[in-house]
Amino acid sequence: MSVKIAIIGGTGVYDPNILTEITEEKLETPFGRARVKIGSYHGKRVAFMARHGEDHSVPPHLVNYRANIYALGMLGVKNIFATAAVGSLNQDMKPKDFVFVDQFLDFTKSRPQTFVEQGVVHLDMTDPYCPRLRQVLREAAEKHGLPHHIAGTYVCTEGPRFETPAEIRMFRQLGGDLVGMTSVPEVVLAREAKICYATIAMVTNFAAGISATRLSHQEVVDIMDENVHNLRKLVMAAIESVDEDAVCGAGC
Ligand code: HPA
Repeated sequence: MSVKIAIIGGTGVYDPNILTEITEEKLETPFGRARVKIGSYHGKRVAFMARHGEDHSVPPHLVNYRANIYALGMLGVKNIFATAAVGSLNQDMKPKDFVFVDQFLDFTKSRPQTFVEQGVVHLDMTDPYCPRLRQVLREAAEKHGLPHHIAGTYVCTEGPRFETPAEIRMFRQLGGDLVGMTSVPEVVLAREAKICYATIAMVTNFAAGISATRLSHQEVVDIMDENVHNLRKLVMAAIESVDEDAVCGAGC
């Protein structure tokens, strides 16, 4: 039975404890090795990948995004739900809210963004995050009464440092709602691999200069931990209801 659904776990989400009959695989790709766990939930086969490694040892700028997405493609994955801890630039998007982002602004600096190293591919990015999967997430959040926003613009920074307040002011003026360090190039590579992709962003803090206090990674992890049970509910409901064979019209 092929695996058509994958969860990419971000900060605070390191183990696939909703899955049963878990096996672990190491996949060799042209871009390096990727580790993935495969299990079952609700009669569906699901792959789980910890973006930063199971011990959170890989920082955002060193994640091998190409190996990860390529490996999921090798398994036959067609739908990815990716979790992401984010800072908020938008007073309406509060800590512990979920945001099913629909756009990104890319401020990364050093990351390969394509699998194609010969020839030229210009990908359409009108709908970078799959509208069908975002709708699945919206219904899952409504079902469980979880605070959520159905759209938002994710600003992806290079990290691993947090931003300056001046950068956050600039991102706000440019239309950003959230700031994080991992969505790009993951979302771009998923589109290149023709895999539908949606991000479950969870706000862990107000961004630098908006927050009354200085930021720390521990604060991000603590808020994530406090709300991981809701994230799990959301992911379970999404896996249950997603049509894993659906064909999208959004270019994915
Ligand atoms: N900035 C960047 N990435 C983040 C933040 C932030 O404030 N919070 C969680 N991930």
